[in-house]
Amino acid sequence: MIRILAIETSCDETAAAVVEDGRRILSNVVASQVDLHAEYGGVFPEIASRAHIEAIVPVIDQAMKEAHMGYDDLDAVAVTYGPGLAGSLLVGVNAAKGIALGRDLPLVGVNHLEAHIYAHWLDVAGDDAATPPLTSPPQAGGTGGGQKLEFPLLALLVSGGHTELILMRGHGDYEYLGGTLDDAAGEAFDKVGRLLELPYPGGPAIQEAAQGGNPTAVDFPRAWLEDSYDFSFSGLKTAVLREVQKYSTLPQGRPLADIAASFQAAVVDVLSQKTAQAAEEFGATAVLLSGGVSANTALRETTTERIRERAGVPVYYPPLYLCTDNAAMIGACAHRHFVAGERTGWDLDVVPGLRLV
Ligand code: KG4
Ligand code: ZN
Repeated sequence: MIRILAIETSCDETAAAVVEDGRRILSNVVASQVDLHAEYGGVFPEIASRAHIEAIVPVIDQAMKEAHMGYDDLDAVAVTYGPGLAGSLLVGVNAAKGIALGRDLPLVGVNHLEAHIYAHWLDVAGDDAATPPLTSPPQAGGTGGGQKLEFPLLALLVSGGHTELILMRGHGDYEYLGGTLDDAAGEAFDKVGRLLELPYPGGPAIQEAAQGGNPTAVDFPRAWLEDSYDFSFSGLKTAVLREVQKYSTLPQGRPLADIAASFQAAVVDVLSQKTAQAAEEFGATAVLLSGGVSANTALRETTTERIRERAGVPVYYPPLYLCTDNAAMIGACAHRHFVAGERTGWDLDVVPGLRLV
């Protein structure tokens, strides 16, 4: 059995987890800073970094305690080294180095984007048997440890900083099919959330505001960018601003629900359509929705529907707590590198602009 202590501090969650054999989550602690950043309507880097410094030791202690682990029971320490905010990443990387050096354990540096995809290889809490999520309710989705996954897989990676379609031909073998030319999908949700004066982060707030709204009430633009798997969401954001400006005061009630639902539908429409097209074109055996925005119910449902129509392959999405930032996914990803014999040197530095491919 291989047990890895994994640490994640790339943005505004301080997280630590102990993961066994890349699948079993022995503990998964996440300290969110959302309340600290709420008044700024976004992540304030200086505050994030300071909050990580305060939280990192207690979060790691708790992860070890909940896993009933001593440091001698560990095989490696893994940490996110990019992409993300430099000052935030530094806190995790230095904590990981300190523990690894002090306890004579190997260090494994992890790419946060790759880890979002590897969330699909984790056993879902309380449900070790794989559940085919095609027909299950969104919260119960997941691949149940990735046991049934066969390559090539198509990953739609949608987070606060990234929107990419990635073809995965094997472990560590990625092909970039396309990505956003401007705002990431999560960023669009967050910015529109601010326009609508909804609480930060905008994604979950817009999903909630959209409930009961009519997704066809406002015909927001879709940037199809024909013949490419690229995306663009900045025009959509401007269109929402224009719509909001038609009102003398901020829309509330029905108009707000309609705008939120129409905006969400526009984002989901393009994401799901291009994902279905890529799944078909590249013969993917399954689609992996990954990253914070894959928590979105409309995205999950619409993508599942479209893929069923076009490619007829399953669409998987991790349970909510594994969609947004967490350290269990870092442990799952580190496991693959660890068993392949990869070790990271003590000169590991943060790479804020790190890419997957
Ligand atoms: O993966 P993540 O936790 O952090 C990054 O690596 O960026 O993703 C955070 C993003 C935020 O932009 C947030 O608004 C979005 O994921 N998000 C959602 C939902 N839950 C989180 N977007 C749409 N619908 C949701 N339910
Ligand atoms: Zn993330």
